[in-house]
Amino acid sequence: QVSHVILTGGVGSRLWPLSRQSNPKQYLEIFSEKSLFELAIERNRPFSRKLIIVGNRGNRELSERILRKTNQATYTNIVEATPRNTAPAIAFAAFSADPDDLLLVTPADHIIQEGESYTAAVKKATELAKEDYLVTFGVQPTTPETGYGYIEFDGDKVVSFREKPDKDNARAFLKAGNFLWNSGMFCFKAKIFLSELEKFAPEVYQKSLEAWQNAENDVLDLDMSMHIPSISVDYAVMEKSDRIKVVPAGFEWSDMGSFEAVYEYFKSNGYTMDSNANMQLGEIKPTFFVGVNNCIFISTKDANLVVSKEASQEVKAVYSYLEEFH
Ligand code: GDD
Ligand code: MG
Repeated sequence: QVSHVILTGGVGSRLWPLSRQSNPKQYLEIFSEKSLFELAIERNRPFSRKLIIVGNRGNRELSERILRKTNQATYTNIVEATPRNTAPAIAFAAFSADPDDLLLVTPADHIIQEGESYTAAVKKATELAKEDYLVTFGVQPTTPETGYGYIEFDGDKVVSFREKPDKDNARAFLKAGNFLWNSGMFCFKAKIFLSELEKFAPEVYQKSLEAWQNAENDVLDLDMSMHIPSISVDYAVMEKSDRIKVVPAGFEWSDMGSFEAVYEYFKSNGYTMDSNANMQLGEIKPTFFVGVNNCIFISTKDANLVVSKEASQEVKAVYSYLEEFH
């Protein structure tokens, strides 16, 4: 039996001011009036019998509103007291499931083209997961992106997994041709994930287990959670395990990680730009771009942002600055 685990702990700081702590990007209803969180649930519903949400205290209400909107009758909602990154988040989901359950783990904030290729990839992944592999989904890389994990492959075998390489390595991986981007989705048996976590990150495993055993109604306790090392599943397990397989992702995929990605999405959906490829987002009001090109203007009630498309990764710094000084 397959359970869909949806990770919804992130803030989406590179999409500030559209996305922010009080309304992270996965809840913005800007993709044909739907949120990415909602689309992720709908996309994976045909494959899964159970839904397990792992989010944080701050966005519990936002998740529950969408669950009502989508008429999701039964689900497990695991509420973290503080973010400890994805390794502990997936561990909680695995603790809550039956050991033999297959977990299809997906982020809440990606845009994926559902359809035949997606269905085929998930089917293939569940078959491999039944054979006790940790399955990743590999996307054909197009740029030497440093924010992704890279999967060195040989057929469906994984030779190595490199999380967030530096620019030189990313360039070399792209040139080599036998590397795929890790999509951030995974499929495995609950018990296989937990035994690999215990093997390669024993402290993460142990502290997560203790916190889980002290959780009340799937709500984690803050003091217990503070003892869990904060680490992503990519560093804790995927880089270390030799049970990894990769399924090529033949479907369209974007992690909506920056305004550049949002820009490309709206562009490919026929959203109009001015002749210098500028775009406005958010609260639309008459805005004129004179003598500038490839810029995105984002307007919200309490803040505006002007960013050139190429620099869109750097918005995170603005968010960090505001967090620290305001
Ligand atoms: N519940 C919970 N708790 N969810 C979390 C937490 C947490 O502490 N931290 C992150 N998440 C959620 C995010 O909301 C997102 O949906 C997902 O987990 C992945 O976290 P990111 O922080 O977005 O990871 P990343 O983008 O740096 O890297 C991952 O995704 C890339 C593809 O988008 C890695 O898996 C890379 O290897 C991969 O290429
Ligand atoms: Mg991400």
